[in-house]
Amino acid sequence: MLFPTLGALLLATSVVAQDLTEFVGTWSSGSGKVITGPNFADPSEAAFKYPDVAGISYSFTDDGYFELARYRFISNGSEPNCIRGVLGWLHGTWEVLSNTSIVMTPIWGDGYQQIQDPCAARSNFVENYNGTELYSTYAFSTDTADGRRRFQLFEHNGVPLPPMFLISETPTMLPTNKLRNVSAPATVDNQKRELGADSGSGDRVNIVDKAAVVVSMAALGLSSLLI
Ligand SMILES: *[C@@H]1O[C@H](CO)[C@@H](O)[C@H](O)[C@H]1NC(C)=O
Ligand SMILES: *[C@@H]1O[C@H](CO)[C@@H](O)[C@H](O)[C@H]1NC(C)=O
Ligand SMILES: *[C@@H]1O[C@H](CO)[C@@H](O)[C@H](O)[C@H]1NC(C)=O
Repeated sequence: MLFPTLGALLLATSVVAQDLTEFVGTWSSGSGKVITGPNFADPSEAAFKYPDVAGISYSFTDDGYFELARYRFISNGSEPNCIRGVLGWLHGTWEVLSNTSIVMTPIWGDGYQQIQDPCAARSNFVENYNGTELYSTYAFSTDTADGRRRFQLFEHNGVPLPPMFLISETPTMLPTNKLRNVSAPATVDNQKRELGADSGSGDRVNIVDKAAVVVSMAALGLSSLLI
């Protein structure tokens, strides 16, 4: 009885070790325009460099750190003209539990998000975001069309996030230590540039114009971007 038990244990251990190696690198959804690291977030200013299009990106190191970047549009069926844009950034430590759920624990006080809601009284503001992220499970595969490595996370309730593709085996990340001063939290700031305004070109894109993007994302099956 002892040997099969040990064998099973060793097998389970090696499978887990293999899986964790597979996480390492930078992953990005869709057209790969949203990428973790210095081209997305400037935590010292609680600011963002706005990507051209929506998407999500996660990076993982082999010593237990993660960083995530999100640019999403959230529609509300009862208010179809009120599409909220949300940019978010978070980093901290990650672990895979024995039931394949993943827990991402933020470095307290570092995460932040910008919300633009054309219909709300506070139409554009930045706030702290401390959320511990629980993902029910994950899946790796190889894209049959072009051979790219594909990674998918499932939210705590099992809803799949858009698939991401490996864009770099070396994680593109900001430093993994604390980057913001907790005593200076992000606050309401209506002077922040609007979401969708590309910091490079200076083109200002009103969020309502992004409705077409939302529709095409839905057509691609990326409905989970529209929570
Ligand atoms: C959608 O809008 C309605 C009306 O303002 C609001 O009551 C509801 O909470 C919103 N739903 C979500 C998911 O934000
Ligand atoms: C982050 O955590 C601190 C301490 O618990 C809390 O004061 C703050 O409101 C939190 N911010 C958010 C957005 O949850
Ligand atoms: C996996 O275990 C964690 C910790 O007990 C729990 O919070 C999570 O819901 C579990 N995941 C699933 C898919 O049941």
